[in-house]
Order: sequence, then C-alpha cells, then structure tokens
Amino acid sequence: MKNNPLPRLDNHPEIRERLLPFCRLQPGDIWDDPDGRHRIGCGDATDRDQIRELVADAKPTLAIHDPPYNLVAFDLRSIGEFVAWCRRWIHNTTEVTAPDASLYVWLGADQNDGFQPLPDFMLMMRDQPYKARSLITMRNQRGYGTQKNWMAVRQELLYYVKGSPLFNVAAEYTDIPKILRGYYKEVNGQKTENLERSKSENIRAGNVWVDIQQVFYRMEENVSGCYAQKPLKCMERIIAASSSPGDAVVDFFAHSGATLIAAEKLGRRCLTTDIDPIYAEICIRRLERYRTTGREGWQNGHPFEPELPSFADIPGNSTVADEMTVPQRLLF
Ligand SMILES: C[S@@+](CC[C@H](N)C(=O)[O-])C[C@H]1O[C@@H](n2cnc3c(N)ncnc32)[C@H](O)[C@@H]1O
Repeated sequence: MKNNPLPRLDNHPEIRERLLPFCRLQPGDIWDDPDGRHRIGCGDATDRDQIRELVADAKPTLAIHDPPYNLVAFDLRSIGEFVAWCRRWIHNTTEVTAPDASLYVWLGADQNDGFQPLPDFMLMMRDQPYKARSLITMRNQRGYGTQKNWMAVRQELLYYVKGSPLFNVAAEYTDIPKILRGYYKEVNGQKTENLERSKSENIRAGNVWVDIQQVFYRMEENVSGCYAQKPLKCMERIIAASSSPGDAVVDFFAHSGATLIAAEKLGRRCLTTDIDPIYAEICIRRLERYRTTGREGWQNGHPFEPELPSFADIPGNSTVADEMTVPQRLLF
C-alpha cells in the first residue's frame, strides 16, 4: 500500500504555505460544478451575504453541520463566545433552508471540561425555530481516556426539524442481520415469531450507531491531511433519511467534503463551504477524483500529489509515524 500521506494540516504551517498556491478558491469565491449540480465555497459560515450567495434560490431541505468545537484550536476563549458564534450560523441556516427542513449538527461533550459545548448548544437551540427530534450517538472505534475513566468513544449528532420535513425510515436499517428469535406474540389469533412480524431482516440503527467504521488510513475514503473526516456511511444515512433525490443539502463546514461526496452518490445537490481555501480545494479535488475514477478518497496518498509528491525535506514532518500509530489504537 502506498505510504505518502499528508500530515494533519492544522499542525503544519510550512506545508500549508506550499499547498496554498494550488488552491483555486480565495476567501469569498465559489466554485460552480461544471455538471451543474454542486457548489463549493471558500467562505465563513457566519457571513450572511456569503451564505446567501452560496445557496442562492436552492431552498435546501436538509442541513448537516459539523463545526469545529475545540475552543483552543479555534481561538475562542469562552463557551459563551462559542455559543454566540453558533447562533449566527444557525440563523443563516434557518434563513436559507426550505420551510420544511431537517437540521443535523455534530457536536462533542468534553468529559474533562463540564461536558461542554453540547449542553450549552442545546440550550441555545431552544430559542430557535426548530423542534428537537433526536440525540444520536455514533460509536467511534478509537477513543481517548485514561486507566481511571471510561474511554471516550462517542460522537453526538443532534437532529432538529422546522416545519414537517420527510423522514424516510427505510434509511435507518443497517447491514446487521437480526439474529435474536423467539419473541412470540399473538396477532389476529395467530402465534407469530418476531422475525415474521418485522419489516426487515436487518436491525434498525436507532439513535445509537454502532455499525460505522471511523475513517483511518487503510480505508479508500481516507483523505489524509483532514483531521476531522466523517465516514461517508453516516452522511449517506442522514441524507437518505432526511431528503429526496434531487433535493439540495447544505453543509457550512466542508473540510474533507464528506457531505458533498455522499450527496453526489445519492443524487442530491450539495452546497458547501469551508473558511479554509485548502479544504475547499480538497473538496473540489475529491469530487473530481470520484467522478473520474470512482474512488472516494486517496487512502494513504494525498490530494496534492501531482504538484507536490513529497514533503520529506520539511523538518519535523512525521507523517509516517503519525499515520502508522493509528492501527495500534484500533480496538475492534
Ligand atoms: C470538524 S471539520 C468538518 C468535518 C467534515 N464534516 C468532514 O467530514 O470532513 C470543521 C471544518 O470547519 C471549517 N471552519 C472553521 N470555521 C469555519 C467558519 N467560520 N466557516 C466555515 N468553515 C469553518 C474548518 O476549516 C474545518 O475544515
């Protein structure tokens, strides 16, 4: 297997400097898909004008947002400032989405710091024109923890609606077959077994998702350099459950373009943006690569290989070591 990953770009300013000249978008720019389907911006989620320009008259029925919530990396000092910042992009979401729309927000709860920012965000959402529908937990395989606490392996996903958008329950079924038999119940005078009564041979995901593999370097969908990439499978589940083919989906924190590629695969339009020109460029390249090769990522190669085949000359670039520690931390 190829071993030429990009390191986490947020930790390597010198590598960022080398990538920037190859980025097509500058802050404020929008890339229009030549196939006329998606739009990718290099813009700020809180900037009302940029978001209105990105979405134009598309009336998305679904928003999926995955904001950064590491306050130190994000240069915010207090949880109050973080929540005020969230309120601004939630307001932009409300303004550009259809009257009947679903909103999903990925967030974390830091067990070492009062579980912030999840509860603070939830309280803020009570004043917004949305109804809370579910708190989903996705189980990671890798975790962080000590010998003195439960290992942290959860990612939280909040599901809200405004108006009455569709919910396609068929999207909830996993690939996991039902194996438990023997729940008998009388239906119309007949004794029936649970598998006869159920709508599917497979189990429902419910609001605890245990069937999704976290992305790591051996997976084809891996986009090295992206430190917060979500698996395509979870984005596809959300899109299939809460939109119809042809609908528009917005994502204001594009990063590796997981929502974009999932939307492309499922025949939806995606309107997405990232404040960082490097991630906006990675999204464009990922879509182009998917369309020309059918590949969902670079596995252990990287998106800028044609122009920059190696970063070996950069002192402290420990890309191999960074990536190779991952499988040792895999738990199952
Ligand atoms: C947690 S990542 C999103 C991960 C994404 N769901 C994926 O699967 O690849 C957050 C992204 O938000 C971007 N970002 C941070 N602040 C932003 C802002 N104000 N507006 C738009 N994007 C922003 C960061 O550059 C980063 O790429």
